[in-house]
Amino acid sequence: MNDITTYKPCDLVIFGALGDLSRRMLLISLYKLEEAGLLEPDTRVIGVDRIVQDSPGFIEVTRKSLEEFLKRAIEEDVWKTFSARLAYVQVDISNLDDFKKLGEVLDQKARVTVNYLAIPPSLFKSVCQGLNKANLVTKETRIVMEKPIGHDLASSREINDTVGEVFDDEQTYRIDHYLGKETVLNLLALRFANSIFTTNWSHSTIDHIQITVAEEVGIEGRWDYFDKAGQLRDMLQNHLLQILTFIAMEPPASLDAKNIHSEKIKVLQALRPITGENVDDTTVRGQYAAGYIKGNAVPGYLEEDGANTESATESFVAMRVDIDNWRWAGVPFYLRTGKRLSYKRTEIVVNFKQLPHNIFKDSYRSLPPNKLIIHLQPKEGVEIEMLNKVPGIDGAIKLQQTKLDLSFFDAFKNKRVFGGYERLLLEAMRGNITLFISREETEQAWTWVDSILKAWSNLSDKPKPYPAGTWGPNAADALLARDGRTWEE
Ligand code: BG6
Repeated sequence: MNDITTYKPCDLVIFGALGDLSRRMLLISLYKLEEAGLLEPDTRVIGVDRIVQDSPGFIEVTRKSLEEFLKRAIEEDVWKTFSARLAYVQVDISNLDDFKKLGEVLDQKARVTVNYLAIPPSLFKSVCQGLNKANLVTKETRIVMEKPIGHDLASSREINDTVGEVFDDEQTYRIDHYLGKETVLNLLALRFANSIFTTNWSHSTIDHIQITVAEEVGIEGRWDYFDKAGQLRDMLQNHLLQILTFIAMEPPASLDAKNIHSEKIKVLQALRPITGENVDDTTVRGQYAAGYIKGNAVPGYLEEDGANTESATESFVAMRVDIDNWRWAGVPFYLRTGKRLSYKRTEIVVNFKQLPHNIFKDSYRSLPPNKLIIHLQPKEGVEIEMLNKVPGIDGAIKLQQTKLDLSFFDAFKNKRVFGGYERLLLEAMRGNITLFISREETEQAWTWVDSILKAWSNLSDKPKPYPAGTWGPNAADALLARDGRTWEE
């Protein structure tokens, strides 16, 4: 990967600039990039939406978004520079003249146009065609798409085909914000820069791996979107499978996009299909009921604003995933993700195998195996659980479980941990596609997920209820108990 501070100036065009994603995430992340001095001096941010607005109005909306979502004071110096980059163009995407109007604002000679689609996928076609007809697409122009790319394989293909009529795959940046998270990237460093992990990373030393992405939040007023999606499509098809590919892939020849993408695709291709035959034994669906988060009462999923009280959409998924290849034969990956769980926590726990013989029976009848715990968020860090001798000179050798604990905060005190969107916005402006998802990856992930969705649709039971503020339904514990294992708590 190149130095992230050097790139050509851009016109970053945000379609849906007045929408939720733009106001909560994109504008805030761009401000933070400004604050860190990482925006190219001549780069501009051009907000586009169908709502009647002008540039001063857009600047005001951006200021209000920062006041609401930045969660700290705005630095007036930074704001002055940042607000000077902002402009607004009102575009009705069915009106070619509006795209031409946008063209008059763009400067395609001196700047690369990066179009960010923060709008529903049903509108992608009109935007791509509008840009094309107005001659706003050159070889350098890029398009950035937000997940979800479709709701199944067929719809994802349709979106990719539509966008593909105007943009080549090298110009198409499919975002999964987890790939911009510092700790997800650190998985590459952990695995491929440390020989203790490169040589101990397979079925010969690892018993099983757990990946947990637990959320405290509920559906955040997004009933219409979430109820059609569910946690499998919203989180597992993308974020958890992406983490899984980083954990399970073979060493890529280099950090180039092609090498990384092709190793990730091989993992997705090796996922054992979950079908009607094994769906009951390998998956658990849950739906939150009313409960307490940090002592505050919260409503159940079916009591959320706008809820359809008959909904059978899952807000929790746990599953056993097997990767049928040489490295991972016989090593289960247990994945779980849910909304309204006890607290926010994203972590990977690599459970190593038990030693074949125990010479410390005085301390432990059975020696607890080593664990590597990778905390992706909120408290980024890496821990290794290991056994050490308790100091003392009398009696037999006594062992105790201890932790090698590396907190990113302590180790890199003066380094700021950038958020996923900050990194990915910067990478899109720089033209580095490595951390974005290729078309084949999305489609391979959908192929695997579609089979689960089909198997679920034939089940007569509904997702199991769990009280908000817990770790999901009991059935998730039973899933591991069947294999003689427990979730890391
Ligand atoms: C989004 C999902 O992609 O990721 C949300 O649509 C979810 O439902 C969010 O809450 C979680 O992201 P993070 O970065 O807070 O873990």
